[in-house]
Order: sequence, then structure tokens, then C-alpha cells
Amino acid sequence: MSIGKKILVFGATGEIGSRVARGCVEMGHEVTGASRGINKRHRIDLHGVELIYGDKKDKEFLKTLSAKNFNVVIDTVPGIEDVESAHKYFNGRIEHYFMCSSTGTFVPLRYLPADEDHPWREKTAVNFYRQCERDMFALKLHKEDGFPVTIFRPTNIIGAGRVPLELWGGRDISYFQLLKEGKPVEVPGDGTTLVQSGCNDDLAAAFVKGAGKGKEINGEIFIISCRKAITLNRYLQTAREVLKSSSPVEYLSIREILARRPEVSPGGLNFLAEHMCFDISKAVDYLGYSPEYTVEEGLEIALKWCLDEGIF
Ligand SMILES: NC(=O)c1ccc[n+]([C@@H]2O[C@H](COP(=O)([O-])OP(=O)(O)OC[C@H]3O[C@@H](n4cnc5c(N)ncnc54)[C@H](OP(=O)(O)O)[C@@H]3O)[C@@H](O)[C@H]2O)c1
Repeated sequence: MSIGKKILVFGATGEIGSRVARGCVEMGHEVTGASRGINKRHRIDLHGVELIYGDKKDKEFLKTLSAKNFNVVIDTVPGIEDVESAHKYFNGRIEHYFMCSSTGTFVPLRYLPADEDHPWREKTAVNFYRQCERDMFALKLHKEDGFPVTIFRPTNIIGAGRVPLELWGGRDISYFQLLKEGKPVEVPGDGTTLVQSGCNDDLAAAFVKGAGKGKEINGEIFIISCRKAITLNRYLQTAREVLKSSSPVEYLSIREILARRPEVSPGGLNFLAEHMCFDISKAVDYLGYSPEYTVEEGLEIALKWCLDEGIF
């Protein structure tokens, strides 16, 4: 394991970026965190991280950063133009450029569990095609110009710091509020759809592991999640236990849920109705990734965090 790298984290005040930055400090790296300073979301303690404020769309800011001789640049929320800028300002100067993508690029899944060889480059009715385009662009820069990009694709993220996924396919605390109050809640279909949420701390640990690796991971994609998918029924049961809920459960079609709940996003609900089941063995083998949390544990942490924060 190499330690003592100079690491720049764009998005270091965010949910994932703060955990990545902190984890890199704990591994003995010298960490600079960059953000505009406007994000108000929950973040963990950034003790030991040098924070600098600026916009990654600002070329002068990037030029200043590129002169600082970072070994590793991490962007937890990259747009395609950010990848283009990172290539322009950092290529040839850094060992790694890590970017956060999503397993939403792979859906609908053609086989389970899906791995990194699963098709993702074509637009589908439900995939995150803009992220596919960005990732194709980044990999092209790697292939044609040696840009040392590695793409991390997390599944749905869970853990302290954010309302977890609910079974309307969003992050609406009202769903969990209904559960807490013992009121009826809906489940799409028969509840056997698979869901796989990864804990934010585990996701951050994958980036930190990557920072200690050499060029063998450049040009690679890694799926990052917990080890096993569970059904929506099991997910709901976990939430019921944490919230001590006696809510009746109604199994409805997507159409019926949308008719009853106009506030629910059709895109989110349709996405939830897709099986999510991923194989993380490439990250385990190449990175030494070893997730600590199951979906159930991540959900429990998230709901307890919501309770503690008074979000209900
Ligand atoms: N949520 C999920 O279930 C899920 C699933 C799969 C993948 N993902 C991916 O995971 C990532 C989530 O990251 P996150 O939760 O850490 O996001 P976040 O909490 O919203 O944090 C975003 C960070 O980026 C910074 N930032 C935004 N625009 C910037 C700019 N122009 N210049 C400099 N800094 C900027 C923000 O700070 P300022 O605003 O102060 O600049 C903040 O530090 C995303 O890439 C998402 O696509 C999420």
C-alpha cells in the first residue's frame, strides 16, 4: 500500500466526497478538498482536510489547482464537461482520476447479478444515459490519450446523512412517516423486485482503496455496493422493524400507485420496479474492497439518522 499521496477531492463537502476526503486523510494522504462552499447537506467532520473554495467550472481555479502537483484527483459529482476539464488540466500530471458514476447506467439488467461486463452503452427506457455518455467519453480519453480514469459505479446510496430510498422510488420522508404512524403504505408489484443499496461509508472506502493502487486500475469500471440484493418486501420489513410499524401493506401496480399519489415521480417508481442485483467481486479482487454493511444495516443506519435529526 502506498501512502502519503497528494489527493484533490472535488465535492469534499458532499455526502460522498466528505467521507472520501476524510478516509484519505486517515490513510495518511495529504488531502485538499474543493467545493464552492454553498452545499448545506450533512457531511462528516473534515478535520485534516485542507478546504479550498472555488468552482470546478472556473478555468483559472483549475489552472491553479493543476500547478499543485496532485497525484490523485477525485470528482464525486462529475459532469461530462468536468471530465473534459480534468483531462485538459491534469492529464500527464496525475496517477489517477477517479469519478463517481452510477449502476443506473446498466439498467434494465439482462442478467443477475450484473457485473462490469453487462451492456451499458446504449440508451434504454430507464438507464441514466447522460452518465453513460460521460463515462464513454472518459474511457475514450483513457484509450486515446492515456487519461488515468477509473469509474466507480455505486448502486443506490444509503446510510447516515440522507433520507433513504422509499418504495415510491424516491427519498420522500412521508413514506417512512406513514410507516411510523401505522398508516397504509404501497409496494409496487408483489414486492419481489430486488434492491441493492450500498452504504455511503463503504462507497467512500472503495475510493480510498483505489487511491492506494497503481495504474492497473486505470481505464476500469468498478461496481460498488453491499454484497447482496434483497427484495422490496425484505427492505420494507426492515424499515417496519426499525420504525416499529404496524402499517398495512397494499400491493399495487405502478399505474395504481401513480394514480393515488400524484406527487410520486413516474421515473423514480419505474426505476424502482427494475431488478437491482450486482456482483461486486471485481472491486473485491482488484481493490480489496470489503463492504461492512448489508442493505438492512444501511437502511437501519439511515432511518435512525433521520429519527435522531428530527427529519420525521
Ligand atoms: N444518491 C444515490 O443513490 C446515487 C446512486 C448512484 C450514484 N450516485 C452518485 O453519487 C454522487 C453523490 O455525491 P454526493 O452525495 O456526495 O453529492 P452531494 O452531497 O450533493 O455533494 C456534491 C459536492 O460537490 C460540490 N460541488 C457541486 N458543484 C460544484 C462545482 N461546480 N465546483 C466545485 N464543487 C462543486 C458540492 O459543494 P458546493 O455545492 O458547495 O460547491 C458538494 O461538495 C453523484 O455523483 C451521484 O450521481 C448517487
